[in-house]
Amino acid sequence: MHIFTGRLFEDQAPCSFIIDRMKTGQQSLSISAALLQATAAFKKQSESARLDAGVLLAHLLNKPRSWLTTHMEELLTEDECTRLDQALKQVGEGLPLPYILGHWEFHGLEFAVDRHVLIPRPETELLVDTALQWLCSHPEQRRLADIGTGSGCIAISLAVEVLDLQVEAIELSESALMIAQLNVKRHRVSERVRLYCGDLTRPLTGAVDIVCANLPYIPTNMLKTLPVSNHEPSLALNGGVDGLKVIRRLLELSPACVNPGGLILLEIEASLGMQVIDLARLVYPSAVIDCRQDFAGLDRLVSIVIPEA
Ligand SMILES: C[S@@+](CC[C@H](N)C(=O)[O-])C[C@H]1O[C@@H](n2cnc3c(N)ncnc32)[C@H](O)[C@@H]1O
Repeated sequence: MHIFTGRLFEDQAPCSFIIDRMKTGQQSLSISAALLQATAAFKKQSESARLDAGVLLAHLLNKPRSWLTTHMEELLTEDECTRLDQALKQVGEGLPLPYILGHWEFHGLEFAVDRHVLIPRPETELLVDTALQWLCSHPEQRRLADIGTGSGCIAISLAVEVLDLQVEAIELSESALMIAQLNVKRHRVSERVRLYCGDLTRPLTGAVDIVCANLPYIPTNMLKTLPVSNHEPSLALNGGVDGLKVIRRLLELSPACVNPGGLILLEIEASLGMQVIDLARLVYPSAVIDCRQDFAGLDRLVSIVIPEA
């Protein structure tokens, strides 16, 4: 049997052995050749094509990524070749890697994802870390609402870290809630994370101490120009004409459901920091309102500390 080999992570494409494989109709493909093929496919859409190729191949072979480097000459089975071809077709269509894998990591935990939920972003970890700091310094305040929970990544990350936290997680999309439910079960927090289908704070039955919200915040016209709009749900991204449609409504509804001395954390679009602060100031004139930057130095999180009564 002819063994196709290639050096791992070589930049050249197209690869002669892949063309050979097509010409001869042979199905066998070594791991190193498969990595080259996948890297070439990811190059069109990703700045981390080599890493993405390794992650995808390890997923398809159900092995750790480190296993690949010690088995470069091993051949894929026919079934594995077919699954690789299918996955690379999806890559070619621009489908983000997390949707192909069906899961993604956030705050050190793995979350199921599909096309009905936003892929959890690393910048949202700023919101989770800020909430954790506040919860550490307020050990009596243990009722939290996560508005627009999507995959449940914020609600679940916090419940996993803070063992006496009670979370109400609210989401408008039923399809997204099904994924959140999978994740709640996977991380064994069903008893403390309750999922509700509904609009913003409306499903809440009582006041909470802290509100976390990563709501849609991209202005409609800006969204049309972004590749993210091709695959991730518009309901998760589209913040209306000025990007503030949903955040504005949440701020208006929030005084009825946040306890005095409580905290509201809002993830925001980087250019909207001052506008969100102004909106918050209208609703909470005597609150301490701050804007924090993410790891890229962009405005990302508005925090509103509500005064004690
Ligand atoms: C930007 S995504 C954030 C998802 C998740 N919290 C995260 O950080 O990855 C916004 C989520 O809010 C939901 N959503 C949009 N409008 C909503 C509303 N009026 N009430 C509740 N959820 C809403 C969307 O369906 C979407 O899942």
